Amino acid sequence: KRLVVLVSGSGTNLQALLDAVADAGTEGYGAEIVAVGADREGIEGLARAERAGLPTFVCKVKDYDTREEWDAALAGATAAYEPDLVVSAGFMKIVGKEFLARFGGRFVNTHPALLPSFPGAHGVRDALAYGARVTGCTVHFVDDGVDTGPIIAQGVVEVRDEDDESALHERIKEVERRLLVDVVGRLARNGYRIEGRKVVIQ
Ligand code: GRF
Repeated sequence: KRLVVLVSGSGTNLQALLDAVADAGTEGYGAEIVAVGADREGIEGLARAERAGLPTFVCKVKDYDTREEWDAALAGATAAYEPDLVVSAGFMKIVGKEFLARFGGRFVNTHPALLPSFPGAHGVRDALAYGARVTGCTVHFVDDGVDTGPIIAQGVVEVRDEDDESALHERIKEVERRLLVDVVGRLARNGYRIEGRKVVIQ
């Protein structure tokens, strides 16, 4: 299976996927990353892709007159690589109708909180501020809401009294990277069905 991964930052989730494919081989893992896309230049996630010899593309919102044109451009740039599955690994933009029309049902996101708790761009900060005693991460299919699509898998992480946002986020990411690698591999190898809010991996 062909994967396109979308990033906006350090790309450690992308790196975990790259390492999993390198370790298991494309056949063993069931998928290979064919391109990496981003919404901004100069991020470590793109450098990781380049070090891996992968093609990259960048679609910046400010380069387009409307949000819809950006969405169509992102969809077109992604479609050029003919992915079977698109993975948002720390991609910090909400895609629109065109992208979902093309990739809905095969577009996976990872979120650093236990959805439906703490959706949005500050899930780690919000869980901490709320005083949650456990939080974690969620891998889910993207639908037309924000972090509202069918949940595939979750991982739990304890919140410690001494935690600040970055310490907690780092601990979440240790679980998140393993969860994402496991889920993407199983989706690619086994195939899956989405039945309402339930995801069944064969
Ligand atoms: C991940 O925790 C992701 O869930 C969140 O941002 C982080 C991205 O980390 N949206 P990285 O870029 O994969 O290191």
